[in-house]
Amino acid sequence: MLEALRSARRGPFLLIVPVVAALGGCKPIKEGGYESVTSRTPAYQAQLAEATNPPPPPVVAGLGAGGSGPKLVAKNLPAGVTQAMVDQGQEMFGTVCAACHGPGGTGTASAPALNDDKWLWISGQYPEIVARIESGVPQPKEHPAPMPPRGGGSFSDDQVKQIAAYVYALSHQGGA
Ligand code: HEC
Repeated sequence: MLEALRSARRGPFLLIVPVVAALGGCKPIKEGGYESVTSRTPAYQAQLAEATNPPPPPVVAGLGAGGSGPKLVAKNLPAGVTQAMVDQGQEMFGTVCAACHGPGGTGTASAPALNDDKWLWISGQYPEIVARIESGVPQPKEHPAPMPPRGGGSFSDDQVKQIAAYVYALSHQGGA
């Protein structure tokens, strides 16, 4: 009689344990934690990763470091000068030359425009442009401060030719 009473009391108690466990969200643990915790779902984790470490903005040729505008498509390049050289020159122009000559060679108070057919030192032929970049301008005619050799940049001979290709293309956009 006492035995029966005991098991009758224990009965409902034993039932409650699994029910509470089920309601309480004690699901089997998956790798990485409980699925039901929002911040642990793969989707949320991906969102979080993106928010705290966003991808860099798209790179536009000629912008960014250079700020020299959209990619320049050259016309009537002289023999030995290629569009690839113009492209490379455009990148390098932006890193040094644009500081004085302006983005896209449009000119500033420090240095003349290079995107027109008016020149102070040369007639605009390709070899002259190369030579002028090499030498710089120790005593400017119309601007306050000199241009250092190679614009002050540490460019190789090939790089100077590429920058000159870009300057040539800039100043001959109407044709040869
Ligand atoms: C510190 C400023 C400065 C930097 C940097 C600079 N220049 Fe110059 N540049 C000048 C000045 C000043 C002149 C001469 C303007 C004058 O005589 O009044 C000049 C002249 C020139 C000329 C001759 C223009 C003409 O009308 O005959 C060319 C070509 C030229 N620069 C290209 C470049 C290139 C390419 C770079 C980069 C490698 C560069 N410069 C970097 C200041 C600069």
